[in-house]
Amino acid sequence: MPAHNDAPTPATFTAAPALSGTITVPGDKSISHRSLMLSALAIGESRVEGLLEGEDVLATADAMRAMGADIVRDADGTWHVHGVGVGCLLQPQVALDMGNSGTSTRLLMGLIASHALTATFVGDASLSRRPMGRVIDPLSNMGAAFTASPGGRLPLTLRGICPAVPIEYRLPVASAQVKSALLLAGLNTPGITRVIEPVATRDHSERMLRGFGADLTVDIDNDGARVISIRGEAMLQPQNIVVPGDPSSAAFPMVAALLVPGSQVTIRNVGLNPTRAGLVDLLREMGGDIAIIRPRDVGGEPVGDLVVTASRLSGIDPDPARAPSMIDEYPIAFVAAALAHGRSVFRGLEELRVKESDRLTTMAIGLRAIGAQVEETEDGLIIEGTGGEPLSGGGPVATLLDHRIAMSFAIAGLVSRGGVTVDDMRPVATSFPGFVDLLKAMGAME
Ligand code: S3P
Repeated sequence: MPAHNDAPTPATFTAAPALSGTITVPGDKSISHRSLMLSALAIGESRVEGLLEGEDVLATADAMRAMGADIVRDADGTWHVHGVGVGCLLQPQVALDMGNSGTSTRLLMGLIASHALTATFVGDASLSRRPMGRVIDPLSNMGAAFTASPGGRLPLTLRGICPAVPIEYRLPVASAQVKSALLLAGLNTPGITRVIEPVATRDHSERMLRGFGADLTVDIDNDGARVISIRGEAMLQPQNIVVPGDPSSAAFPMVAALLVPGSQVTIRNVGLNPTRAGLVDLLREMGGDIAIIRPRDVGGEPVGDLVVTASRLSGIDPDPARAPSMIDEYPIAFVAAALAHGRSVFRGLEELRVKESDRLTTMAIGLRAIGAQVEETEDGLIIEGTGGEPLSGGGPVATLLDHRIAMSFAIAGLVSRGGVTVDDMRPVATSFPGFVDLLKAMGAME
């Protein structure tokens, strides 16, 4: 991935005047990955509008091409995918370079596990530290074989099997990636593959698999767990997909508009799937003025426009049960808490330690370096807010190849006295190309 070969690109973000304007954010990363994977498995041409053209999604596109799909972008920005059919993926001739993308890696491991293919997965330093055992274990139960680096990490080689064995699997961690890996493996597995999800995670895979014509059902068992069943040896029908704006990207301008005094910003076309919209609820409970206008359905996903007005935020002690609905938004939520009135106590967040970086430690160190009062616990952070006063600023803050850390500290810089220097903005290209231009469009910087 080119971004990781060049020299780091530091940048300093300084106190901003009131933000304003109407903006849009790039397409949803999770939905973009899934749209390419499922289109590549349908026979015929699917079209995808609004695809996130970030490095993570482009890694998925390259991998699907390496396995036989024809994927091109036309001059209008619509992506055209000619799929090969479930069960007909080709043997990749090169190692699959997943760059920084955990979603590409884990979902493709599932997809390939039930095909008679051998694939090697490689990634950058961040991805090579992340645990893959959570997908290796259940996929091994289905019959796939793995040779992984110590600790179940990348680089790893997967030998898929056809026919694979259908399994019933109860998720030991709340993970949409593990759930999706198993559902994708189930597509080419005879019989019913079943995933039991005690805590609901993002359901884009279920929605889109149904949209492509897979026989997939969701039931709730006596304990309230979601039971997702997919019938294998599916035939997928090509689709026209419109990808909504990514709520995880909208999170950054949303918090910026709440924190910079006098701001009002409209963010159009934001995905508001309830399994993703936890940050909006959290910020509202903190006192944030966020209005949802024009709620609508786009391609089976709820979408709306957000009008965000600068607000007095209070500290919060959120229920850890909401973590899956805002799992990627904690770094920017910590920035909001650092500027709030009173103390915030975040608990039950051990999963943040295995994201693109250890997001508890990385955020604690960075926030302290720019003047916030933060205590790190085993499973969370305790943050004393400044009561609306700007942070002192400082840096350079280490972002450790983590796009969401880089963007969170960029936003913190907008509400600092001395500015915040981010050590490397290159990782932002994985999920949010145009992030800095968008800050400029809101008047945050020249
Ligand atoms: C994702 C699921 C989440 C999230 C990631 C994208 C997905 O990961 O953090 O950015 O698209 O399924 P986990 O499933 O590991 O929680």
